[in-house]
Amino acid sequence: MLSAQTISEHASRDSCWIIVHGKVYDVTEFLDEHPGGSKIILKYAGNDATEAYEPIHPPNAIIDNLPSEKHLGDVDPSTVTKVVKVISEAENKRQALIAKRPPLNEILNLHDFEAIAKVILPDKAWAYYSSASDDEITIRENRAAYQRVWFRPRILRDVTVVDWSTTILGQKSSLPVYISATALGKLGHPDGELNLTRAAGKHGVIQMIPTLASCSFDEILDAAQPDQSLFLQLYVNRDRSITKRYVQHAEARGVKGLFITVDAPQLGRREKDMRMKFVGDDAGARVQENMSGVKKDEGVARAISSFIDPSLSWKDIPWFRGITKMPIILKGVSTPEDALLALEAGVQGIVLSNHGGRQLDTSRSGLENLIEIAAALKTRGPWPNPNFSVFVDGGVRRASDVLKALALGASAVGIGRGFLYAFCSYGEAGVEKAFKILGCIQEEFEMNLRLLGARNLNELVPEMVDASALQSHVGTPKDNLFDSTYQPLRLAEFKTAKL
Ligand SMILES: Cc1cc2nc3c(=O)[nH]c(=O)nc-3n(C[C@H](O)[C@H](O)[C@H](O)COP(=O)(O)O)c2cc1C
Repeated sequence: MLSAQTISEHASRDSCWIIVHGKVYDVTEFLDEHPGGSKIILKYAGNDATEAYEPIHPPNAIIDNLPSEKHLGDVDPSTVTKVVKVISEAENKRQALIAKRPPLNEILNLHDFEAIAKVILPDKAWAYYSSASDDEITIRENRAAYQRVWFRPRILRDVTVVDWSTTILGQKSSLPVYISATALGKLGHPDGELNLTRAAGKHGVIQMIPTLASCSFDEILDAAQPDQSLFLQLYVNRDRSITKRYVQHAEARGVKGLFITVDAPQLGRREKDMRMKFVGDDAGARVQENMSGVKKDEGVARAISSFIDPSLSWKDIPWFRGITKMPIILKGVSTPEDALLALEAGVQGIVLSNHGGRQLDTSRSGLENLIEIAAALKTRGPWPNPNFSVFVDGGVRRASDVLKALALGASAVGIGRGFLYAFCSYGEAGVEKAFKILGCIQEEFEMNLRLLGARNLNELVPEMVDASALQSHVGTPKDNLFDSTYQPLRLAEFKTAKL
């Protein structure tokens, strides 16, 4: 047991101790290795850093990264002076807005969740979640691509009974949709990713667990139902023994698919997120930091991702095959060339994804890439290929979007922000509502399948969509006169205007 007084004596660069979750760590030698820079740790030197640590680190990060001799023991709680937390004016305003959220029964679509999250999230969380790379062209294109595909519905097909349930990598799913991995859930809600796990368990939807979840992997697994299917998203560590341990632990705990992220050898520059880090920073300290040549703070995303191995290559695939029997899926494929290499490498599928527009800006949308990739895969065996799944993600907000991707050959579709904003705005109940809107209790899938003349997902065929405009990158000219008279649809409203 260490007293608060003793710990506070180690509050400098020469000897820096911090408290996280009631345990004391000597991080002196780790200061310059910390991916988020030393400054942020030094701010908590000799003190409790739990509150700053928690939302942006998986719980075990400090335990796994510091040698055991730097784990100094427990803090003696009787020596800690209880600090009365001062709640800022901004936080008070935020809480007032949360209390005035529209009731859940007024939420009609996934856009509503986004509109609410934008108002009630702390600025840093909104910046991290909503940001995309560079000029954010791709994030907007992801959405626009769906609007360039039109339906060609069939009629008179007796659509009294329609069924949109499916299997994804052999696992039952009540929707042709899975929850894609989005990191750092606790920035937006105290229960973080557990909101998704609990709601997904109730409704038979599959969740992909992020490597960089705010909740620990085991916490998430413990919150799942015994028969609940889960996938794992993997950022490959430079230290392959860490990756091996993580993957094998996931398999032992029953995870059903390994999605290796291959579009992020380095994280994209997400400027909304990067700028946030400067707000409230002490300008003097920043100048000093620049002068000493220390890496500038570069936003939450970059701060947490420096362990990712940029040397990952096709040569590594057999190694992954050797350490797990889980189906392996490459997440972040964009071209037919790579889709064919993946097929040849013997993996079980690919996700056509640009990481929600957060990586290479002006990359094309997954939906657009699907056309060329499906054509290429058709030349190499059965299509759809039961042993090689093709998933798509990015920009999906409606069941009608999902049906377009499925008609063009996707096996299922991933949604990231749609579900993330659902739990940021209403916790677990928000995620359940999002599932219901899409189709866990009828609604969007049922209506769209009926109107399209398809009784089940097998009846969705390419002839049901006109994708001829999908590959046209010519912007739609602005129609000013039309725009000035058009009455836009309205989103769910707060009881009073923003304070
Ligand atoms: C806040 C946020 C964090 C993300 N974190 C990860 C991650 O840790 N690993 C990963 O492979 N993809 C990550 N993604 C990408 C998603 O898995 C998915 O590809 C993307 O969100 C799909 O686009 P959508 O948000 O428009 O649905 C993240 C996306 C967002 C928005």
